[in-house]
Amino acid sequence: MPALPVISPITLDSYLGWPHMHYVFVVLCVFVVVYKLTILLAKRREALRNFQAFPGPPPHWLFGHVLEFKQDGTDMDKVVKWGQEYSYVFPIWFGPFLSIIIVQHPDYAKTILTSSEPKDDFAYRFVEGWIGNGLLVSEGQKWFRQRRLLTPGFHYDVLKPYVKLMSESAETMLDKWESYASTNEPFELFKHMSLMTLDSIMKCAFSCYSNCQTEGGTNAYIKAVYDLSFLIDLRLRMFPYHSDLIFHLSPHGFRYRKARQVALSHTEEVIRKRQEALKEEKELGQIQAKRYLDFLDILLFARDENQQGLSDEDMRAEVDTFMFEGHDTTASGLSFILYCLACNPEHQKICRKEIMEALHDKETMEWEDLSKIPYTTMCIKEALRLYPPVPGISRKTTKTVTFCDGRTVPAGSVVGIGVFGIHRNASVWENPNVFDPLRFLPENIAKRSPHAFVPFSAGPRFVLT
Ligand code: HEM
Repeated sequence: MPALPVISPITLDSYLGWPHMHYVFVVLCVFVVVYKLTILLAKRREALRNFQAFPGPPPHWLFGHVLEFKQDGTDMDKVVKWGQEYSYVFPIWFGPFLSIIIVQHPDYAKTILTSSEPKDDFAYRFVEGWIGNGLLVSEGQKWFRQRRLLTPGFHYDVLKPYVKLMSESAETMLDKWESYASTNEPFELFKHMSLMTLDSIMKCAFSCYSNCQTEGGTNAYIKAVYDLSFLIDLRLRMFPYHSDLIFHLSPHGFRYRKARQVALSHTEEVIRKRQEALKEEKELGQIQAKRYLDFLDILLFARDENQQGLSDEDMRAEVDTFMFEGHDTTASGLSFILYCLACNPEHQKICRKEIMEALHDKETMEWEDLSKIPYTTMCIKEALRLYPPVPGISRKTTKTVTFCDGRTVPAGSVVGIGVFGIHRNASVWENPNVFDPLRFLPENIAKRSPHAFVPFSAGPRFVLT
């Protein structure tokens, strides 16, 4: 009997042959690209139509306004100037398809900040990989519940002991500065501030004494937090890194993943150990009688009306959110406060005198002393006006939003609140570039819109206090 022929399965490859397969693949790719481009072009046309009522600086057809940002220290001034030219509300384009309406007037900011519109899905996306769905990025019911659970952690009774912890961290920093004082050498103080605020927040959040200010960057967790903050900022500024694929394939993406792993493992370990240690404790009051409450205690004991606490994942997200939100903002704010006082020695002199009087014969400030330094408080506010640590925030509209002048933006628009621009708006602030703490005298504050000074945002997503 003749042997039966071997029958091989007919595949698309063998049917069409390799050259044909390539052909199909190429056609498919072209089809996908054309389809995507058509959608993007339609979106661009729609955005151009929607923003017709909002004139702005003319964009380049491909780069939009990206090339206008030279990263030479003048970018913020440019945006402020655009505000003056275009009635403090104007669109800017990041490339041909992404546009944001920038708001630099308190009345327009009020419309957005008092609404419950969610955060945009562009900038906040970059931090979510690290801090998870914590208070800063969460939305709707989840955000509402988290906010309610965490608010007691910001009660005066909890915060009061933190003043001493912060003073200790500040003292360590000042001791280091003594050596510079004797050499008369200039130095970059932001780095020192940043380590000092990290040191403080580690104590307030985990009761962890890291010695990061004196150990010269050897603590792996501190280094990871430092790296993550730097890489997230870099990603925002470098447009090719907005693509997940490009970023994750780059050396920076590799460094990010490594740092993220170190930070996540550390947080998980700290939470686990504390859960163990607190097994016997039934109430926060019992712990508070023995020692100060840190943020971790507040998280572990938080309960909603159904006696439900936070899941381990939520807890980790909140701790990481506070590490991220709490150290860079404060370091930047403090650095600029010192910068403003250095540039304005006449105000510095008044602050010094006021603080010396409040201290009397003590070494450091206490909670009760904070109300005894009104002039210094005004200087701090004025520095936050001129140099807000968070210079802009944004929301993505879920419905048509109508501004005070009747102009509207449709659902799906990204609206940026230009905090820096609002604080330098010449129609609100006389001589906006001049450091003048008296703007914050109570009688002067009363004359302004509450949305003219928003370094900590405003409305429901105001920074937790
Ligand atoms: C000078 C210091 C600070 C400044 C200027 C600042 C500024 C801001 C701003 C502008 C927002 C609103 C962001 C948005 O709406 O997208 C915000 C939110 C937030 N901040 Fe701060 N912040 C500071 C310090 C801190 C500290 C020390 C912590 C915690 C330890 C913190 C925790 C948060 C949290 C959890 C949110 C989210 C609140 C929510 O959405 O409900 N911030 N902060």
